[in-house]
Amino acid sequence: MDAFQIAGGRPLAGEVDVAGAKNAALPIMAAAILADGPVRVGSVPDLIDVRTLLDLLSGLGVWARRNETGAVCLDNVDPSRVVADASLVQQMRASFCVLGPLLARRGRAVVPLPGGCQIGDRPIDLHLRGLTALGAEIAVLGGHVIATAKRLTGATVMMSGPRGSTVTGTMNVLSAATLAHGETLIAGAATEPEVVDLGKFLNTLGARIEGLGTSLIRVQGVEHLGGGEHTIIPDRIEAATLLIAAAITGGSATVRGARADHMSAVLAALAEMGVTIQVRGDSVTAIGAIRPRSIGLVADPYPHLPTDVQSQFTALASVALGRSRIEDHVFPDRFAHVAELNRMNARIRRSRNGAIVEGVGELCGGIVTASDLRASAALVLAGLTASGSTTVRHVHHLDRGYERLEAKLTQLGARITRVKDSSASEVHDSSFATA
Ligand code: EPU
Repeated sequence: MDAFQIAGGRPLAGEVDVAGAKNAALPIMAAAILADGPVRVGSVPDLIDVRTLLDLLSGLGVWARRNETGAVCLDNVDPSRVVADASLVQQMRASFCVLGPLLARRGRAVVPLPGGCQIGDRPIDLHLRGLTALGAEIAVLGGHVIATAKRLTGATVMMSGPRGSTVTGTMNVLSAATLAHGETLIAGAATEPEVVDLGKFLNTLGARIEGLGTSLIRVQGVEHLGGGEHTIIPDRIEAATLLIAAAITGGSATVRGARADHMSAVLAALAEMGVTIQVRGDSVTAIGAIRPRSIGLVADPYPHLPTDVQSQFTALASVALGRSRIEDHVFPDRFAHVAELNRMNARIRRSRNGAIVEGVGELCGGIVTASDLRASAALVLAGLTASGSTTVRHVHHLDRGYERLEAKLTQLGARITRVKDSSASEVHDSSFATA
């Protein structure tokens, strides 16, 4: 396993490009199962999770290759395959997004239940309820979801649960509804930009979807979808992470190719913490204050602050002036980073749904261990501002969702090196899928 060694205390400065959004690329590639012609998807980030999905799709009879421009080309060459590889699904929850497309296009899907999760409870009841409403017969047997349907039928489906609308659940039902007989109304639909991007991709293939970006999506089923081309939206979470990196070091960074309109809550929170934000076209610049101000933050479904930046904001609050209160209403147990940040001299205690952060003047470098994708990012950010040297272990979690993060931070002037982590006993934890 790899680790990062970070020499902290250096303000960042410079410009970097944002990658395509992981959480749009994965479901869009899975939805290529629906297409009757070749599909080309541009701006797919080069991530472990993307490679895992490419392997999964290959096993499902999808010819899939990344070309020299970074685009991924996909073609259904063996539609008889309907059983998803268990070892791959367990590595990544997003692979559950093949369920709806397999069911709708191939009439049957056998998809293992996604593995355990480090960020809290992640049921799939809303996915199954939605597909059942479209007429699928679904059984959960021996740890597998077995779904069958001759042809799905449009229906009214509710995709909201006790913690808000489900993002990948909405995507599974949206994908499946494109080939259903008649009209589907998806009520309580997730409004995240990644859901909108999937819908636009499906419309490019010939689907008839309206209401994207609202909580009521209307889908008129069609007989078949063709091939097509699509470019993935910029990754708002990566962009936010880079802007917070600038802020936490008291430096500045410009993220090129970003969509500020997808990041309103993030930019507002940064501004409230005293960070100067400048938006020029598709470039977003953050200029950190000498010391950030404390804040009260709640992570909630879009357009509110994303849960996927909660840990990074917790790191920023740990060096703010005063007490911050941070809650996560989407994943209330997503606070594994707290104990590790406290090892670096942060003063954070857990509270119901969240954390109380007493800002300290300076974090101290140390050896910390990443437990999931976004917690890893928080530890890297803390290392950038800490005095002395920080080792962040188990950065394979980071590689699942960030394309060359250490290279981008180096481009901004950080001193960060990837090393082999042989210093401590290795724990094999790849069975925990977080994203
Ligand atoms: N939920 C249910 N029942 C369901 C599905 C979800 O109760 O059937 C609950 C969850 O337990 C959670 C809430 O609904 O409390 C929202 O979960 P959601 O289904 O929206 O999460 P997801 O679709 O599994 C995606 C992202 C996550 C991101 C969440 C929330 C992908 C591949 N993953 O997960 O991304 O945190 O939406 O925005 O799109 C990450 O990138 O680090 C990551 C974890």
